[in-house]
Amino acid sequence: MSLVKKIIPGLLVVFVLMQFFRIDKTNPPVDPALDMVNQVEASPEVRQILKNACYDCHSYETGYPWYTNVAPVSWWVKDHINEGREELNFSIWGSYAAKKQDHKLEELGEEVAEGEMPLTGYDIVHPEARLTESQRQALVGWAKATRKRLGYQGGDNAKEGHGEEEHD
Ligand code: HEC
Repeated sequence: MSLVKKIIPGLLVVFVLMQFFRIDKTNPPVDPALDMVNQVEASPEVRQILKNACYDCHSYETGYPWYTNVAPVSWWVKDHINEGREELNFSIWGSYAAKKQDHKLEELGEEVAEGEMPLTGYDIVHPEARLTESQRQALVGWAKATRKRLGYQGGDNAKEGHGEEEHD
């Protein structure tokens, strides 16, 4: 009992101290000309799904709900945002080379079809990001059609570099 009495105040102190390590919530400026939704054709439905379910982690238009003020949740969220933007950033889509755009669309179709994206857990706090089967199909179909429209021809050459391309 006395041990518990010591541990709990100790944990409280740690928790309070954690709160001093704030995350940076400033969104870098967005150049609308480079934004994915202004670069490629997309139906209003697809735009809406991307904005609701993907833009928080994959763009510079991140929204930070109240719980992102509380460490350690804030650190965890920020990690996902950093990693998500690193992998795929719709805000700078226009700066990606054709090969990269093609590859990212391919990944997008796969991740969404397999239910890997949006990231597990995100939909618990963001009900608007819970995708229905028809919303998933809309995204997958759009990714496929967009790849066709962009007409990147390097498919075969790109194959050998496929492994290295995963993380750019
Ligand atoms: C809560 C944050 C979060 C949300 C929301 C989210 N993602 Fe991600 N996404 C990540 C992270 C983190 C990674 C990298 C780690 C991984 O692949 O699991 C990633 C990776 C990806 C990749 C892989 C890129 C590559 O080149 O391998 C694609 C594609 C992707 N996300 C698409 C989407 C789409 C489409 C949505 C919306 C339907 C979405 N994501 C929603 C965090 C998120």
